[in-house]
Amino acid sequence: MKTVKVTINVNNEKIKLQVKPYETLLETLRERLALTGAKEACSLGSCGSCTVLLNGTPVRSCLILTPEVDGASITTIEGLKEDGKLHPLQEAFMEKGAVQCGFCTSGMIMTAKGLLNRNKKPSRAEIIKSISSNICRCTGYKKIVEAVEEASKKMA
Ligand code: FES
Ligand code: FES
Repeated sequence: MKTVKVTINVNNEKIKLQVKPYETLLETLRERLALTGAKEACSLGSCGSCTVLLNGTPVRSCLILTPEVDGASITTIEGLKEDGKLHPLQEAFMEKGAVQCGFCTSGMIMTAKGLLNRNKKPSRAEIIKSISSNICRCTGYKKIVEAVEEASKKMA
């Protein structure tokens, strides 16, 4: 089968791959690179559980083909830790009880990271809007919003 050469920077590591032309970024991350933090749920772009950062912006990795991101930088939940410490968003999600089954959590955190990349002090309304297309079946969202608020305060 024909394959495509791709070079991507994943969590600050340059990686050269030979992938199928129609392979999704989510498949590449989970199945080739064993980065299973991004979850596969709907595979249709509807739930947000597969969210990662593409050059700092949240994207649904189930909708993107890996050959399309040749040369780009990808950040997954596994790449958020700094100096061996959890990112303030990861700490706040735990402290605020914003994680229940955890299936949506990495997508929520990466979406929130994208928000904080472009707006260091988002209002509650801006936080709600940013996560509004990420689906969580467990938490009722209140704790998630509080966690993002808490993290933005710590990072200010
Ligand atoms: S698995 Fe990608 S949006 Fe649902
Ligand atoms: S914590 Fe279970 S889906 Fe969000």
